[in-house]
Amino acid sequence: MSENTKITLLPGDGIGPEVVRQAVKIIKILESKLGLELEMQEYPVGGAAYEVEGHPLPETTLKAAKEANAVLLGAVGGPKWESIDFALRPERALLGLRSSLGLFANLRPAKVFDALVEASTLKFDVVNGLDILVVRELTGGIYFGKPAGVETLEDGTRRGFNTLVYTEDEIKRIARVAFDVARKRNNKVHSIDKANVLQCTGFWREVVTDLHKEYSDVTLEHMYVDNCAMQLVRNPKQFDVVLTTNMFGDILSDEASMLTGSIGMLPSASVGGSNGMYEPIHGSAPDIAGQDKANPLATILSVGMMFKYSLDNEQVNTWIEEAVEAVLAKGYRTGDIMSDGKKQVGTVQMGDLVAEELEAKQC
Ligand code: IPM
Ligand code: MG
Repeated sequence: MSENTKITLLPGDGIGPEVVRQAVKIIKILESKLGLELEMQEYPVGGAAYEVEGHPLPETTLKAAKEANAVLLGAVGGPKWESIDFALRPERALLGLRSSLGLFANLRPAKVFDALVEASTLKFDVVNGLDILVVRELTGGIYFGKPAGVETLEDGTRRGFNTLVYTEDEIKRIARVAFDVARKRNNKVHSIDKANVLQCTGFWREVVTDLHKEYSDVTLEHMYVDNCAMQLVRNPKQFDVVLTTNMFGDILSDEASMLTGSIGMLPSASVGGSNGMYEPIHGSAPDIAGQDKANPLATILSVGMMFKYSLDNEQVNTWIEEAVEAVLAKGYRTGDIMSDGKKQVGTVQMGDLVAEELEAKQC
């Protein structure tokens, strides 16, 4: 790792700032333990940026994100900005960052910690030991396809439209990520599409099948997205790597998160460009913002992914996972993963507990 490693912090809206604060606590501990020199700088993004600069992704924020080795983002959005012009909504900042940084591959691991098996709404046998990785395409598909908008036709009819589009290269590069990562896991990829209805995803299936010839050691199965949504709750352990489009990945990763007990547990890494962006998959949760109720573990686990994918230190990811597992094993829970007989803690205390575990580690 180079001496002046830069991490750009984008806390954003709602619970974003409080969960990022806990993650920073963890980064600082690692910094002193490992003797690293990390330069951390915070910039406004989303609604917070709109309030001060009139734009959810100000130039200075984008520049800082581009120049960093890694970006750590909290969350964006909230009811306050729901009725403003689409182009200025907080969510546009996230899409702008993903696309400007070229982060086409979004990795969302849904792993069930042993201590949390009982926090899932699904039966023990269904989720015990579960470890799935959703590989979501992140800079294409219906999220970015043109034309898109709302228009009024000559007869006065109003209509809204978006375009689902994928080029062969876009499909190939994300499929490569899925096959490569499957080789380091259990060698199985499920490619999720709606090839029976949408031509674009029929093409997706064709391109993935073709590329698979280079990866004959990896098992490939195709599955329609509706079936996948059902199989994820029926028998999730049949999956290893789930490769899918931008929108299907958005939906299926929220579903997969609940297998782990709470959406507050799922970290993510967006990679493929010259650096990477790391964020919890949960949103800004404005209803609990500023109340010390949010679960910081998804953001803390995202720090682990940051070390693994952008800072070239996979060991740190393991330490963070172990520290989280240890805190959970001792019975500490935030409200979202609380169950009978456990000890409920707030955001800050949960951050402190993970920090203590890391401090105690022989690194
Ligand atoms: C996610 C979020 C975003 C998305 C929103 C906030 C733009 O739901 O990262 O899953 O749809 O990609
Ligand atoms: Mg989502």
